Amino acid sequence: MKWIRILLKTDVKEVDFIRAITVEGKRLCLVKSGDKFFVTQLKCPHAGANLSEGWCEDGKLICPYHRYSYDLETGRGAPEQGDYINTYAIEVRDDGIYVELPEHNSFLKKLFRL
Ligand code: FES
Repeated sequence: MKWIRILLKTDVKEVDFIRAITVEGKRLCLVKSGDKFFVTQLKCPHAGANLSEGWCEDGKLICPYHRYSYDLETGRGAPEQGDYINTYAIEVRDDGIYVELPEHNSFLKKLFRL
């Protein structure tokens, strides 16, 4: 796993937002809600909508197509949905906001004990 800076501290504004970002070629959804940041997968698991075009309600990310909801902390969908989205760890450091992503070949390293 490695930590990658996605925002400078100076880029952080008071307003909430949801936006698509690209981190090392991976398309993700960055959410600022209140004083918290969240990073999730960008595509909705239901039918592939862009979750960055959705909105937040009560700690949930709402998909713009069919209004499925996903908990921003855990990624769990509402119980009747039976699905989830990937969420990624965030750290707020002195110089910016960081997200933790798996290294591309960490699976192969573990498999072959490299
Ligand atoms: S595509 Fe997201 S709820 Fe259907």
